[in-house]
Amino acid sequence: MDNLMHTKVKTTTTLLSQLRQEFLQQEDIILKTDEYLDRQKVFESNARSYPRRIPLSLAKAKGIYVKNTQGQVFIDCLAGAGTLALGHNHDSITNGLKKVLESNLPLHTLDITTPVKDQFVIDVFSALPRSFSDTAKIQFCGPTGADAVEAAIKLAKIATGRKTIIAFSGGYHGMTNGALAMMGNLGPKKAVTGLMPDVHFLPFPYTYRCPFGLSPTESINANLHYIRSLLNDPESGVLKPAAIIVEAVQGEGGVIPAPVEWLQGLRKVTQELDIPLILDEVQAGIGRTGKMFAFEHADICPDMVVLSKAIGGGLPMAVLLYNKKWDQWSPGAHSGTFRGNQLAMMAGSITLDVIDQQGLIKNSTLMGGILKTNLLTLKDNYAFIGDVRGEGLMIGVEIIDPQRSSTMGGEYATNPLMASKIQQACLQKGLIIELGGRDGCVIRFLPPLIVQAGEIELITKCFASALQLVSEV
Ligand SMILES: Cc1ncc(COP(=O)(O)O)c(C=O)c1O
Repeated sequence: MDNLMHTKVKTTTTLLSQLRQEFLQQEDIILKTDEYLDRQKVFESNARSYPRRIPLSLAKAKGIYVKNTQGQVFIDCLAGAGTLALGHNHDSITNGLKKVLESNLPLHTLDITTPVKDQFVIDVFSALPRSFSDTAKIQFCGPTGADAVEAAIKLAKIATGRKTIIAFSGGYHGMTNGALAMMGNLGPKKAVTGLMPDVHFLPFPYTYRCPFGLSPTESINANLHYIRSLLNDPESGVLKPAAIIVEAVQGEGGVIPAPVEWLQGLRKVTQELDIPLILDEVQAGIGRTGKMFAFEHADICPDMVVLSKAIGGGLPMAVLLYNKKWDQWSPGAHSGTFRGNQLAMMAGSITLDVIDQQGLIKNSTLMGGILKTNLLTLKDNYAFIGDVRGEGLMIGVEIIDPQRSSTMGGEYATNPLMASKIQQACLQKGLIIELGGRDGCVIRFLPPLIVQAGEIELITKCFASALQLVSEV
């Protein structure tokens, strides 16, 4: 494995931020990585996931960098699956957490209010577009995205009295019983019986692999036409749903941004038919796509918004926001013990403040634009790169097999073996990236929003040398 500390870094010093150089100079005790990994294999469940593809034991982290227990430094373009908007151990968050810890505030308050919670609610409402926040209510949920998704579904069913839910192919909403039922990926759900019933799937406008076999423009129109006719057809077989749940940019499904005109069309038809539209912003929200919320690209106003990941500033936190016209559930209808995490609320408030003060949403657009341009240049040199897409700092590179035609939309087949090789080569070159999408063929870049231009060049260099490596063998 290349040791970035001693080789690459020297040759690319001019590209490095001050932050990284300081981090690299820190001395650590060198431990045996294998011991940790071996013990992990022995004790942890067979369901463990990331360590199988990213076999690292991590000791330190700062900004976009992590260091393993052997002292090797990696650029973290996974960032807690998009959670770490400000990167690892941001000074403002560390200081804020210290303040809470030293204040004697009860750290566990169920959903009883505190000054920290009060401020957090004000901050979240201020971050939302006025068209939504003016009539919004907030529900604190158990601290995972999946629990807030469950809350949204529950509320929609209670408020409408309907039982059917519509989700989208390629969608990801978490791993609980209801959320799993709404998942596109068949892998994790096929062995589980008794998932939430009455879930129907519509095709997502994945224009690179159009399920209708049409060109991108035709694809969007056909998709909308299909949704509209299904929802109005008395013989569609699908009851009027309690809600439609959608990601404005599908993340786990392969970094697929919903085209603006499609989201607008979806909003229009759901409004006409009085169907609550739930925007799952767990991954795309809080500045990642170059807007505070990804649905803002389409300038729509959802009925419900689900937030988690970055809204807790790296600590567990999930909330559901919704138009108060749906506020028809009873007291205690969605309770849960861990809904009062003061540290996460403080970290969330600080995250929103730093994003605002440091213009990180603009940074997401600018840095994401540079990274996408760089990746598009690389695409010209490698036939196995089929597509480069995304918004802001949520970017995907789809890996294909140009020798095999596709059987599920799009011209060429997916290439899971090559995608996996690229991921491992990236790790060798000091870059942590994750895979997603059909057959795990989309390489996903989710760096922290604080990433700087020099660091984008460094990410590109690492990725380029990984591509070079897999092409040589
Ligand atoms: C869009 C989306 N919704 C929901 C979830 C589930 O969140 P959690 O893993 O915190 O339950 C995720 C997680 O990746 C997600 O990306």
